[in-house]
Amino acid sequence: MKILVVGGGGREHALCRSIAKSPKCEKLYCAPGNAGIAEDAECVNIGGEDVEGLVAFTVEKWIDLVVVGPEVPLVLGLADRLEEKGVKVFGPSADAALLEGSKAFMKDLFARYNVPTAAYERFSDFDAAVAYVKNQGVPIVVKASGLAAGKGVILCQTKEEAIAALDQIINQRVFGKAGDEVVVEELLVGEEVSFFALVDGDTALPLVSAQDHKAAYDGDKGPNTGGMGAYSPAPVVTPAVADQIMKEIIQPTIDGMAAEGRPYKGVLFAGLMITEDGPKTLEFNVRFGDPECQVLMARLKSDLVEALDATAEGRLKDITLQWRDEAAMVVVMAAEGYPGSYQEGSEIRNLMATGDVEGVTVFHAGTKAVNGKVLASGGRVLGVTSLGQDVARAQSRAYEAVDKIDWPEGFCRRDIGWRAIDR
Ligand code: AMP
Ligand code: GLY
Repeated sequence: MKILVVGGGGREHALCRSIAKSPKCEKLYCAPGNAGIAEDAECVNIGGEDVEGLVAFTVEKWIDLVVVGPEVPLVLGLADRLEEKGVKVFGPSADAALLEGSKAFMKDLFARYNVPTAAYERFSDFDAAVAYVKNQGVPIVVKASGLAAGKGVILCQTKEEAIAALDQIINQRVFGKAGDEVVVEELLVGEEVSFFALVDGDTALPLVSAQDHKAAYDGDKGPNTGGMGAYSPAPVVTPAVADQIMKEIIQPTIDGMAAEGRPYKGVLFAGLMITEDGPKTLEFNVRFGDPECQVLMARLKSDLVEALDATAEGRLKDITLQWRDEAAMVVVMAAEGYPGSYQEGSEIRNLMATGDVEGVTVFHAGTKAVNGKVLASGGRVLGVTSLGQDVARAQSRAYEAVDKIDWPEGFCRRDIGWRAIDR
């Protein structure tokens, strides 16, 4: 098969690595890719948001399967446009991608199908939202409904903070159109996990559990990021909890989407809080998590192309997945300053030395190759990924590899996996 992966981050590097290994893959392209992906795929300079450019390339090269990494092209309708041309796609239609594209849509869907989630109300009027906050009390969570690159969620400990957040979103429009509507919801307490299932319209096949660290600094302190590291398995997701998640959250969502004429196809990523009253849904994403994908791919033994193709063709009920028993971890190395402003162009040296550490793979997230040098070209730059007998051993290998990389302009957290290791 000829396969095109859309995207250019650590998630896409992990996907490309697994796809390239498959005997079913004859030729792999990635748009736009990065310096690491170029080792596994032919990178083509088309941005993930250039829907017309991606469609034209796919047709020109007779691509058999397109695997879409990030959410934005999906929300823009890339899967629909490709399917119109008869191309198989791993990723949902724009109608189904609304699960991530609109928190207001998602929350209303949960209400219609009794999917456990935080109590909420949606608003576009500032005064009405303020009245709701005053009535509910704090702590409370304020969210821009649309896509805000992971920044549109504000956890508020005081009424003043909540009112300021509403003012920023509704009156000051800091998230633009994404703030046309806000969702105000109950703050859930518990342990957060990332749960993934492949979905082909009606059948859902769960993947192994994972947990990520969203905060920028050690001790889960500092501003939220896209994710500073992740590990799998997440011990809090016992087999009984996984069954409950499938039965109470994933299956009702898929059935509801199908019943409403928006059948879901691709990977469904549920961000969950495991509360005292069981798992509750924080959000859905219509893509693999980044960096969770890196640890899932490290543990996957089965042929990824077969699984993606079966998802795209609606044959998931015939598929089972094999996983390594070992634990996996990814430690993200980011540019100093991330998630705020940071410099690009610093050189990363000694990457080859990480090959000496058993069980370690370095996925590139934001790099470019210039004159034989690897330069940082993003906020999250590398994902040092390891396997080990358990999370603690995966952790020591990951940091051994991190310490070999010579990149003074970068930083990483030193405590990825602490929850699992403390248990
Ligand atoms: P979201 O983009 O909706 O996943 O929110 C980003 C992060 O904010 C989540 O990963 C949680 O850590 C946190 N969060 C969102 N909603 C809630 C909630 N209702 N209660 C507690 N934490 C939340
Ligand atoms: N790591 C969380 C996400 O991809 O949204």
